[in-house]
Amino acid sequence: MSQPLLEVNNIAHSFDTLLFSNVNFSLLPSQSKAIVGRSGSGKSTLLHIFSTFIKPDEGSVKLFDKEIYAQKDNAIEALRRYDLGIIFQFHYLFKGMSARDNIEVASLLSGEKIDDAILEKLEIKSLMQQKVGELSGGQQQRVSIARVLSKKPRIIFADEPTGNLDKETAKLVMDVLLTYIQETDAALVLVTHDEALAKRCDKIYRLEDQVLLDED
Ligand SMILES: Nc1ncnc2c1ncn2[C@@H]1O[C@H](COP(=O)(O)OP(=O)(O)O)[C@@H](O)[C@H]1O
Ligand SMILES: [Mg+2]
Repeated sequence: MSQPLLEVNNIAHSFDTLLFSNVNFSLLPSQSKAIVGRSGSGKSTLLHIFSTFIKPDEGSVKLFDKEIYAQKDNAIEALRRYDLGIIFQFHYLFKGMSARDNIEVASLLSGEKIDDAILEKLEIKSLMQQKVGELSGGQQQRVSIARVLSKKPRIIFADEPTGNLDKETAKLVMDVLLTYIQETDAALVLVTHDEALAKRCDKIYRLEDQVLLDED
């Protein structure tokens, strides 16, 4: 059995009230896991905890076998830059720059090349010269996904990545993400409202009543 890329033990976190406790979770190479649950249940917080952005009140989060919140800032920065693909609800593209330049910034930072096949699969190859500010929300979303994939992350954390896409485009994005993890032995954690997309993952978890339940 290969080593987990992510291993979470007994985490708990509160803001004003307890969001969740006793959360355990792990992720193997080429595995995809979905997290569903009602709005406000703490899904985004959980994803931020998994992906270096929020230190939980309790428990352990190991990325690539290292306790993440015990590491120095520059080690965490390096992880974010080279190893983690983070697709959050709000994408941070430079609106005045072309789609291609936006993607190039990410691939330059990580030392990887842009993969034309990914641009083709996401159906954005013909948009590369346009300024991001001129693209539709759904097109921008796909540019931001291409930007994340172009750095060849080992884990993708996606928070409602298809939230502003029509059904067909959402399916296409899901195809690209799942193919990517299969081909590269990366892994995917997907937070979504969309049960049909969740079902395409290897496993589904539900965050409810302050616990993360395994649906299978
Ligand atoms: N940084 C924060 N400070 C205080 N409260 C927060 C913060 N982030 C989230 N919350 C609260 O935690 C709860 C869960 O939020 P969130 O994780 O975004 O849930 P979900 O993604 O499932 O909708 C909400 O009540 C939200 O207002
Ligand atoms: Mg959320």
